[in-house]
Amino acid sequence: MEERGQRSNRRLVLVACPYQGHITPMLNLASLLHSKGFSIVIAHTQFNHPHPSGFPNFTFAPIPNCLPKDFLSSGDAAAIFASLNTNCEGPLRQLLSDMMAQDEATESKISCVIYDTLMYCADAAAHYMKLPRMALRTSSIGTQLIFSELPWLRREGYFPPKDHSSKDPVPGAYPLRCKDLPLFNGDPEPMMRVIAMMLDIKTSSAILWNTVDCLEKQLSDQVQKKCHVPFFSLGPLHKVAPASPTSILEEETDCLLWLDKQANNSVIYVSLGSLASMDEREFAETAWGLANSGQPFLWAVRPGSVRGSEWIELLPEGFKEAIGDTGRVVRWAPQKDVLAHRAVGGFWTHCGWNSTLESISEGVPMICRPCFMDQNVNARYLCHVWRVGLELEGDLDQKEIEQAVRRLMAGEEGKEMRLRAAAFKDQIELSIKKSGSSHTAIEELVNLIISL
Ligand code: UDX
Repeated sequence: MEERGQRSNRRLVLVACPYQGHITPMLNLASLLHSKGFSIVIAHTQFNHPHPSGFPNFTFAPIPNCLPKDFLSSGDAAAIFASLNTNCEGPLRQLLSDMMAQDEATESKISCVIYDTLMYCADAAAHYMKLPRMALRTSSIGTQLIFSELPWLRREGYFPPKDHSSKDPVPGAYPLRCKDLPLFNGDPEPMMRVIAMMLDIKTSSAILWNTVDCLEKQLSDQVQKKCHVPFFSLGPLHKVAPASPTSILEEETDCLLWLDKQANNSVIYVSLGSLASMDEREFAETAWGLANSGQPFLWAVRPGSVRGSEWIELLPEGFKEAIGDTGRVVRWAPQKDVLAHRAVGGFWTHCGWNSTLESISEGVPMICRPCFMDQNVNARYLCHVWRVGLELEGDLDQKEIEQAVRRLMAGEEGKEMRLRAAAFKDQIELSIKKSGSSHTAIEELVNLIISL
């Protein structure tokens, strides 16, 4: 068996997808593999790039000229991902070829290319260079399962659903209802093509998953049966990796001092993640719902996430006076520390997969308000299967927000959800300890990489 210290001449090239919810698990995986002795190269786009300063031991390799600027502001996710992959393949191939040429002189070698499945062009680039490759999936297995059913559901007329609020079950897709399908705006065909490319990973040596058996073991067995390559549930990656700074935006850490002054489990943390947005009316309803709940709150309002404004200029008149010191609004929170803080007792979330894992890992129950794509699927699992979240449905309304906050933070239902979430927290802690499911999967993955 190869000694850990001998692995530094084995380079792993990790190809990141340029969005926060994707960069975070990829950097966590990189930190984890670095801690196992491998050398790490992060191949990244020049926009939304990770900050190298937090990772002095990694090499950062920008992929040049991958997307025209005006494309990014179009907001058309399917077109952005399709172009990103078309434009990155050539430069990525060149990058790999340059690294391999350098390696000849230094006795190191690229052991494997690990790519975010949304950067599926890396599979083709690595295949061309005859390099082994593995795919990292940054969403849940539940999402993958429904993604793979979309072509059939589309042919049968179930997707996209005619009524986006319908609670009718989707045939063969328990526990999902029509409203839980991964919806996106406009014509579904372009995004379905991107999803089909993401799922088509026939030539990879393995699939790595940011999930954990105690949440998705049954689903992972289901997927593994259909999958011809080894499959590793390694997560939650933010828990198994040595702490690493993964935020693209600057974190406002002084909110932690404010949390220090609050009672245990008293604060509701609110965040929509890095992409979702709301309009002015929804923003005002949220503000008053939080204020009138009487519950202390920490609200992360990402600049640009309220449509038509830079940041919080559209907060309703009288709001700041009404909340006094019972609420804090920040641009970007140190979310993992916030969720781990003893004062935080609930999380109003858009149910992005990272936020979902981060909250469950800390035993924090949720108000689930999904916005699009996999968030709908995650919300359904949170509320119906794992039963650690309550759903906030329909148009945002301050009275309903107020009630939901009270139900979660002070009601019997919230208490039960908190107990279930705490039990998951314990199970996750066991999974990442020696002999736990994620710990074992990581050891197996390291052995597989060495064998390539
Ligand atoms: C996107 C998709 O929307 C999501 O559904 C998918 O699963 C991953 O890609 P995003 O919307 O940003 O991600 O949500 P999420 O997956 O929850 O990731 C957001 C990340 O930003 C989390 O790791 C969270 O800790 C971090 N964050 C968010 C902060 O650090 N501070 C904040 O104020 C808000």
